[in-house]
Amino acid sequence: MVEIEKPSSQNRYLNKNIVQKLNSITSGQQARTRTNIAELDRVLGGGVVPGSVILLGGDPGIGKSTLALQWLVAQHPAVKSLYVSGEESIQQILLRAKRLGLDNTPIDLVSENRLEVVIEILPNYEMIVIDSIQALHAEGISSVSGSISQVREVADHLTRCAKANGVSVLIIGHVTKEGSIAGPKVLEHMVDTVLYFEGDASSRFRLIRSFKNRFGSINEIGVFFITETGLKEISSPSVMFLSGRNREAPGSVVLVAYEGNRSLLVEVQGLLDKTNLSNPRRLCVGLDSQRVILLLAILQRHGGISISDQDVFVNVAGGLKVSESGADVAIVSAIISSLTNKPFPADTVCFGEIGLAGEIRPVQRGEERLHEAAKLGFKRALLPDGNKVSERPPKMEIVRVKEIGEIIEWLV
Ligand code: TYD
Ligand code: MG
Repeated sequence: MVEIEKPSSQNRYLNKNIVQKLNSITSGQQARTRTNIAELDRVLGGGVVPGSVILLGGDPGIGKSTLALQWLVAQHPAVKSLYVSGEESIQQILLRAKRLGLDNTPIDLVSENRLEVVIEILPNYEMIVIDSIQALHAEGISSVSGSISQVREVADHLTRCAKANGVSVLIIGHVTKEGSIAGPKVLEHMVDTVLYFEGDASSRFRLIRSFKNRFGSINEIGVFFITETGLKEISSPSVMFLSGRNREAPGSVVLVAYEGNRSLLVEVQGLLDKTNLSNPRRLCVGLDSQRVILLLAILQRHGGISISDQDVFVNVAGGLKVSESGADVAIVSAIISSLTNKPFPADTVCFGEIGLAGEIRPVQRGEERLHEAAKLGFKRALLPDGNKVSERPPKMEIVRVKEIGEIIEWLV
């Protein structure tokens, strides 16, 4: 029989005030240090909380080291900081700094991959950058740098040491293919904030997205583009994403997406091409390919349009990844426009979700999307009938659609 321990008033911990009443705690607003890079502050929820640990993940070569250096320089001299490079020599860091025009700022640098050394000098600073976690090595662990046990051990030590000393740490982690080398995923639960660098190698845009933030909201995005002299912020990303659009081309549709708590205008492109393949190709870039296949089935069943003899390619221009279902109307419009070879009206934007019965469903933030479109001079919007709009931007014509047939009717 299991014996249940009786609660006793002599409980060792109860009298030590480790338990507090929720309503008796006074809230100390977390002070934040601004990075002075507005897009970065936005993603962080207002700046760096002192003593917090931030993980910055991304593919090799995407720009993590560049951003980290720019970050420290932007905070100088308000924040005393150290850049620890386990991968590059001091000379290499200097070369990068020269290229970025940042070599006149007295930031402390060290090229070091022994964790013990880093831990010893860490308390002298307010913020340190670890570039990268995979290059650091803890003495007590026999496995090679970058292995799961090393990465965990190093991150755990750093995190505890940082918290104890109130030092903020920016940990850089390479996203790696699954294998013996551990990527940032194994660290996500240990740190306060997780940021990921996104972007196509071929595109100049870079996105920083927050996946986890104990001190702010998640899914915020910051938009940058790369230049010879480092990352530059984009204050109006919609203008950039639409630059280079051929307004008269069939298959080009402007979507007002809602990504990262902000409305963004992006170009969705569709291209259909007759094929003899028994399994026609369906290729998507920047969109969920399963979603596009679903939409093709809806288009066939409820729109009466057969695409079974067509290769279908759908792309979001500029390298942005759109994950929301609010892109459905734009995807279907791009497909119809390419199939019929009729351009989608150049002054029109669209958004909306499409259900399996062919119905157009409302999406969040309809009004905000319309205002973003109006700011960029668009005159008309195609949107779900169910989206309430109490304050329409002046001079914006609204076309409401209830089901997929109405989109086809309007377009053709
Ligand atoms: P780097 O910061 O070294 O990438 P990571 O640390 O993620 O591996 O940048 C990769 C290369 O891209 C490097 O040669 C510098 C170049 N680069 C620019 O020229 N401009 C930029 O704005 C950025 C971000 C990178
Ligand atoms: Mg690097």
